[in-house]
Amino acid sequence: MSFPSVNPTGTSAWKRLSELRANEQPRLQDLFKADPERAARYSMQWEDFYVDCSKTHLTQEIHEALLALAEEVKLDDAIKAQFSGVHINQTEDRAVMHMALRNFSDMKPEVAEVLSQMKTFSEAVISGSWKGHTGKSITDVVNIGIGGSDLGPDMVVEALRNQRNHLNIHFVSNVEGDHVVESLKGLDPETTLFIIVSKSFTTQETLMNAQTIRKWFLQHAAEDQIAKHFVAVSTNIPAVKDFGIDPNNIFTMWDWVGGRFSLWSAVGLSIACAIGYDQYEELLRGAHAMDQHFTQTSFEQNLPVTLALISIWYNNFLGAESEAVIPYTQYLTKLVPYLQQAIMESNGKGVDRNGDVINYQTGTIVWGSTGTNAQHAFFQLIHQGTKVIPADFIGFKKDQHNQKAHQDALMANFIAQTQALMTGTDGQSLDSPFKVFTGDRPTNTILIDELSPNSLGKLIALYEHKLFTQGVIWNIFSYDQWGVQLGKVLAKNTLSDIESGSVSAGHDASTAALLRKLGE
Ligand code: F6P
Repeated sequence: MSFPSVNPTGTSAWKRLSELRANEQPRLQDLFKADPERAARYSMQWEDFYVDCSKTHLTQEIHEALLALAEEVKLDDAIKAQFSGVHINQTEDRAVMHMALRNFSDMKPEVAEVLSQMKTFSEAVISGSWKGHTGKSITDVVNIGIGGSDLGPDMVVEALRNQRNHLNIHFVSNVEGDHVVESLKGLDPETTLFIIVSKSFTTQETLMNAQTIRKWFLQHAAEDQIAKHFVAVSTNIPAVKDFGIDPNNIFTMWDWVGGRFSLWSAVGLSIACAIGYDQYEELLRGAHAMDQHFTQTSFEQNLPVTLALISIWYNNFLGAESEAVIPYTQYLTKLVPYLQQAIMESNGKGVDRNGDVINYQTGTIVWGSTGTNAQHAFFQLIHQGTKVIPADFIGFKKDQHNQKAHQDALMANFIAQTQALMTGTDGQSLDSPFKVFTGDRPTNTILIDELSPNSLGKLIALYEHKLFTQGVIWNIFSYDQWGVQLGKVLAKNTLSDIESGSVSAGHDASTAALLRKLGE
């Protein structure tokens, strides 16, 4: 089984889509008028998810051509290759198997072992039987990590805030000293536990922050007490040991887990501490259910595939460069930054799987924030601006605190906005051109019964599989991130100049001037 590599622009489906693009595009409202069954035709109910794609410009012809594109690029083979452990991350020669971390139908023994280690550890911390160096129980847990070693756990811990126990969970990510110092303010070294999370254990930000925090801790306790307050999650066991972490406190992960897909591994330890292991497992089970849906459902009824295809239509044929994600719950306030790494680090590529420079659009720009706040911020541009911005509206039928009046108002906005984006001010007689809303602006609505660990797991996996599907169609390697690696190397050069106070040769004039300015 190999990972297919098909240039999408060479397929007959791409040609067909280009022809369809050249036709005059029907307006959304006309599509509804022409087809009374449209809402049902382009909506899917799967478990507790109702996904309505009818307010997009999909037509039968476009949909068929997009499905044909998926066939022609051999999406089916690509999915099989990924799930069977083929090294589809070819530029790093690695498999991509984060789905194995949540595969309770057929769990790898090493995964089960780490999950059991996480269970024992998190239960000890939550119950208070894990003691700090003066015999007190833990009150605060600090996750030290960046990128995938931060964004996923931080997002989930925030999203499931209502399921949390008494532990205070903090996240330190930025190399900025002010961030570290602010995070340490108010923490008690007797009752704080630090989880150093770094897949590579070479990341500058994480190691520097961990060293600073270690020094802070040693101002209050002896070196031999470190084991009671520092644990680590990494694939790089020798480096973790060198840092002085007790081997019993190391949670391993594997090179087949990409950083931005790692919250399902021991990187999720802070989540297990925050909500308890059983609830953490529910998150994994939700994601596993989405994995099964993705691998077992026809593309026509497949949620991640459908969302991916719609996105391809807008991105590659209708000139949309970005997509908005608008969750209608404050609990998902960190979803967009999380998705930005997952999607943009994965699909921001300009060379195809044959090593050739690409001459079509790839990765979408993802942005957004929670509704209704977003309505009072950037929605003006979505309603009346000049750009096409397809948006995903994510809402929950039930709120967490039974605030019916608020929930009704929230949902009224949630539904009214997608309606307004579609209809605009059509049919209204207005006294001013400035009040005209053209409408015809596309949205997907993802309506979920309730925000829970299980449904959150499904939602995250939905976007994971969507981005994978798009990467397959664009014929790019979604699972490397050489662009970020370059930044890491460049920063080393500028750091040695800043530390030495001299500007070395080889910098461009702007960079050299900035380095000199910094030293003034
Ligand atoms: O940001 C680039 C990156 O390599 C991400 O892919 C990763 O999530 C992050 O750095 C952190 O890496 P590590 O877990 O190895 O410290």
